[in-house]
Amino acid sequence: MNDTNKQPNYNIYFDRDNIKDALVCMNEYGYCVIRKMIGLKLVEELKYSIDEIMDPARDLPQASNRYHVQFAEESKPLWKLMNHAPYLNYLSQVHQTNNLCLHRSAAILRTAGESCGTWHTDWRGHIKEPRTPNDILNRYSLPSGNWFYLNGSHPDYSGIAVIEKSHIKDWKGPEGFEFNPNKTSFHPTGDFIENGYKKMDVPGCIEVIADPGDLICFAPLTWHTNMATEERRYSCGIGFRPKSIKIKAPWPLPITAQRMIERLPKHLKSYANGYTGIDVQWRANPRIALPKNGKNDTF
Ligand SMILES: [Fe+2]
Repeated sequence: MNDTNKQPNYNIYFDRDNIKDALVCMNEYGYCVIRKMIGLKLVEELKYSIDEIMDPARDLPQASNRYHVQFAEESKPLWKLMNHAPYLNYLSQVHQTNNLCLHRSAAILRTAGESCGTWHTDWRGHIKEPRTPNDILNRYSLPSGNWFYLNGSHPDYSGIAVIEKSHIKDWKGPEGFEFNPNKTSFHPTGDFIENGYKKMDVPGCIEVIADPGDLICFAPLTWHTNMATEERRYSCGIGFRPKSIKIKAPWPLPITAQRMIERLPKHLKSYANGYTGIDVQWRANPRIALPKNGKNDTF
């Protein structure tokens, strides 16, 4: 990393017909950007879909956000990715099979004025007794980020920042920092912050720069956060897993998932075989308090 501008001194950008080298980069540094994965027409369709589903009255206040953690269950444009040869090629190479099912999906809408988010990893594989839906779903070797930042990503207006090489098993955390007890956030050594650290001055921080239509990928354990938001911003992602990874979810298939499966056209129906949906209210121990608004920021 170049310490002054938080940009890598190695290449992280790859064309969509060179997934092989993109995955080499992701394996080495924990992240990569695949250029022009989708065109600007689909970018606009996805943004409109986020507006219609998540903010139909266009009343999301400034400096706030909304999360949708089953976006594929409602967004038709998101499924256009599954008719898009470059994306299918990416999926088959990253998973090394075409025999895939829907794993999870999400979209985030933010408005200007939000500050930088908490550094975190989505990985929950180290948690021995799963207690939340993320503990159940985020414990497999699946890329954590298959994410479209539909406004692009840039430190001047927001997007994603990652910590290079933080995807390596047994990573000890950034120099000068220590993990919180459950190892899902960190704070300066000796200066505990209950909700985790939220500034960019972390060793290894890369402020990812990408264009609308680029696919930003990161590995299962890679630590990341969103940069401060200076505009209305849209992002979404859809994740799949090999059907060989079978998950017996402790929640029943939600009605919204059932409706999606009924609606899926014939040629996409096989992606529903194995889909668990998500019940964000589910807890292994019902006495555990829900996060604010029943949401969390760990996907
Ligand atoms: Fe995350």
